[in-house]
Amino acid sequence: MKTLLILGTGTDQVEGIIEAKKLGLYTIGLDWNEKSEGAGIVDEFYKVNVKDLKDVAQFLDFYSKPIHGVIAFGVDIPDVLAFAAEKLNCYFQLDFEKAKLSKNKYEAKKLLSENGVKVPPFAPVFSLEDIVLFAEKHGYPVVLKPVDNSGSRGVLLIEEDTNINWAFEHSSRFVRDRSLKPFLMVEKFISGRQLSTESIIIDGRLFTVGLSDRNYELLKETKPFIVENGGDLPPRLTTPFKGYDDLIAAVDQELSKAVKAFSSGNGTIKGDIVIDEDGNVWIIEVAFRLSGGLFSTIEIPKNTGINFIRKAIEIQLDGRCSAEDLCYRIENFVRLRYIFAEKEEGVVKSIRLPQIDNAIFKVYCKEGESISSLKIFELPKSKLLGYVVWGKTEQDMLNVERQVLEGLKIEVS
Ligand SMILES: Nc1ncnc2c1ncn2[C@@H]1O[C@H](COP(=O)(O)OP(=O)(O)O)[C@@H](O)[C@H]1O
Ligand SMILES: [Mg+2]
Repeated sequence: MKTLLILGTGTDQVEGIIEAKKLGLYTIGLDWNEKSEGAGIVDEFYKVNVKDLKDVAQFLDFYSKPIHGVIAFGVDIPDVLAFAAEKLNCYFQLDFEKAKLSKNKYEAKKLLSENGVKVPPFAPVFSLEDIVLFAEKHGYPVVLKPVDNSGSRGVLLIEEDTNINWAFEHSSRFVRDRSLKPFLMVEKFISGRQLSTESIIIDGRLFTVGLSDRNYELLKETKPFIVENGGDLPPRLTTPFKGYDDLIAAVDQELSKAVKAFSSGNGTIKGDIVIDEDGNVWIIEVAFRLSGGLFSTIEIPKNTGINFIRKAIEIQLDGRCSAEDLCYRIENFVRLRYIFAEKEEGVVKSIRLPQIDNAIFKVYCKEGESISSLKIFELPKSKLLGYVVWGKTEQDMLNVERQVLEGLKIEVS
């Protein structure tokens, strides 16, 4: 029996852990939180902060039984994975230096741009003036972001009337390591449709089977904060793309350059992409890891029938997976949406989930919990729940969503 080391056992990691167990693997889970949902599911659990290289190193020194592969589901720790893989003599797609670089948005953009990847114009920010000068040169709006955080933390849409003093302060608060130079950066905001992608890399070839339109309809009310509310699969086809082959080829052209830039071996790459109205593909960022949330675990398999997570686990164990069935196809229309708290204060009184076929729920709150404690960062909205619905046709999927919204009751007092 092979052993898989899983870094992170939170709610978003549960599906990955279950998949590993289905493959007959012996699972060892690490997380700082021993009460995390996945901690009770893995075969062995150890309390380790997986974001802390020293903590993980200490665990690896102490653990003596053989480990055949190491993986993280949606946790942004490619450097820790590269380090652990090297120490365990297991496989990982990036070497430690490149993995570390991939986590710094500024350094990564420099590398991508040097390798001909189409990224938005960008600049380092050391002072308020840097933001103003950049915006005057490239035009508003621009995006200000910490170089070393994720999940939209500290990412702000800066328009002409945004208070730059406040923005600089706010974004700076989400910098993890203030000794980085720069620790903030600014980019031209590329308007167009926003896409999430997820691909498998085998022998330098890309197999992009995860494609989702991202839903930013909340942006109008949440800006300058950028709050995404789920996505839709398959993405719409807009000109100039005549079919999914066209769209995927255009996306893969840019992603392949990113794979080369990072000298990535077999593994996964996820992309944040904007397609402007002329059909140009812009890379906002890439990450050499599995997506968080429900994208790789539920949305892609429901949309295409492809067990994406299984492929990723196979690569971690064997350095490769078969690519035969990695062809984009549409089996279902899929939608992910979140339910946010309408108020900033209050207590969750009751949660009632309807029993409906073709719907999965992910609950982020508990009965009795206060809304303010759910705030992960200074977003105006706290996420209470996510739902994924699917159907053979778009109309079927919308019918399921209607039933979900009719049956779902979250009472907040
Ligand atoms: N230059 C940009 N143009 C358009 N949208 C952007 C740009 N930069 C960021 N965004 C939006 O903000 C989101 C978060 O920014 P990103 O750089 O991906 O940071 P994070 O690591 O927090 O995901 C992106 O997914 C995208 O929707
Ligand atoms: Mg991103």
